[in-house]
Amino acid sequence: MRRLCSVDDIPDGEARGFPAPAGRFVGLFAVRQGEVVRVYVNACPHIGISLEWADHRFLNAERTLVVCGTHGAEFRIEDGVCIHGPCKGDRLEAVAAEIRDGVVFVPESAGL
Ligand code: FES
Repeated sequence: MRRLCSVDDIPDGEARGFPAPAGRFVGLFAVRQGEVVRVYVNACPHIGISLEWADHRFLNAERTLVVCGTHGAEFRIEDGVCIHGPCKGDRLEAVAAEIRDGVVFVPESAGL
């Protein structure tokens, strides 16, 4: 596992993007809801590009869905399933994150 960030680095109810480390091509993003942090690969299932429309902007205005900034696909935060848009029924690639002592860890293979 590798350290992604501290839980407190993500404001509650918000998302944070993490660029791909050296040697990897795909970044990750995380959404925090209370003490729950969900991590996904930052690639839209539609055409594979990153989702955010500005730094760390992955969510809709209500902060209830993940939104792709390119064609507006909407994804449930809890399971990454696309509920609206060109990739409806597809899902974001979830990353099996673990939280230990307030730190978010992800598998070494995440984003490869
Ligand atoms: S690239 Fe995300 S909806 Fe088209």
